[in-house]
Amino acid sequence: MDPDVHSRKILVTGGAGFIGSHACVALIGAGYLPVVLDSLANGNIHALHRIADITGVAPDLVRCDIRDAAALAELFKAHRFGGVLHLAGLKAVGETVADPLSYYEVNMAGTLALVRAMGNAGVRALVFSSSATVYGANARSPIPEDAPYAAVNPYGRTKAMVETMLADLVQSDDRWHVACLRFFNPVGAHESGLIGEHPHGRPNNLMPYLSQVAIGSRSHLVVHGTDYATADGTGVRDYVHVMDVAEGHVAALRHVAREPGILMVNLGTGRGASVLEVISSFERASGRSIAVHVGPRRPGDAPAYWADASLAEARLGWRARRGLDEMCVDSWRWQMRNPWGFDGSAPTARNAEPSAH
Ligand code: WQD
Repeated sequence: MDPDVHSRKILVTGGAGFIGSHACVALIGAGYLPVVLDSLANGNIHALHRIADITGVAPDLVRCDIRDAAALAELFKAHRFGGVLHLAGLKAVGETVADPLSYYEVNMAGTLALVRAMGNAGVRALVFSSSATVYGANARSPIPEDAPYAAVNPYGRTKAMVETMLADLVQSDDRWHVACLRFFNPVGAHESGLIGEHPHGRPNNLMPYLSQVAIGSRSHLVVHGTDYATADGTGVRDYVHVMDVAEGHVAALRHVAREPGILMVNLGTGRGASVLEVISSFERASGRSIAVHVGPRRPGDAPAYWADASLAEARLGWRARRGLDEMCVDSWRWQMRNPWGFDGSAPTARNAEPSAH
């Protein structure tokens, strides 16, 4: 049975999160009606209110754990979905090493529960939020989709295993239409400044940390290593605007509405930027100078990786349209308007600036 292309109602798991909330905005803009499933473990309920402020549409929230088979069955009884964007999952690289079983439970068992519920309800159009971490730290850039799996941490391994599980499912039942989107480094915020990234506690990733230094809630940024074999010695990544990633989800949804089988596809710009280039762009965007300390390399960090982005254009008709400066301008607008994130609470002792970095 072909996926139901007539229902504009789309389930977005993790829709109260950073990428999920931006995906909801893009979906609504494209004429879809998102229903959000989120445990709010990482997502924020205020993001849903802000989606309404931006679009005039307030997505329904079903607050439940992605592993809750009974709740999922109820959900698919209550709604006739045209497809599913699956973004709910754990993604903190540091945490994943300390607590791998939680990552296998949520990222793998959670996806299994979701796919079971979808199949039972006859909904078989799925867009899965995967990650470039499936390529590991030594892939040659630009990285094509047929580069081998080489994840170096449990988080990346859960993404590779879910992709493999979905490939086996498609092999067993050709009614399934699946796209696995391998995000590179999503950063930035919607141009309204109403939704954006505000990690719980101390940010691991460059852009949110940089933003908090610029707003003054952190004293300085530590550059993890300046002795890499890159143009300026600092790490190079493929930063991609979160709204481009969100629009990539809409393009992938259109793809799975018509194409059977499974497609693994990179979502990146195809260009790399170094840490120092990002800092310079952010200083221009914010008009603030960023205090920087040089520190040692971060264990597990790749020197440089960026996407071969050609397949997304060929198969999805998608390519990233926004550049690094726009990512920094939009990140800064979000940070300025929401210095303490969605709920406006000042940093707690738990996440305040540590005495030494
Ligand atoms: C980028 C560069 C750091 C912080 C992460 C996740 C990964 C994926 C993509 C989901 C590196 C340097 C960083 C800082 C620094 N997300 N840096 N000082 O590690 O490429 O990947 O996002 O799938 O799971 O790990 O991104 O932003 O942490 O680092 O110098 O305080 O910035 O060394 O070169 P990364 P990042």
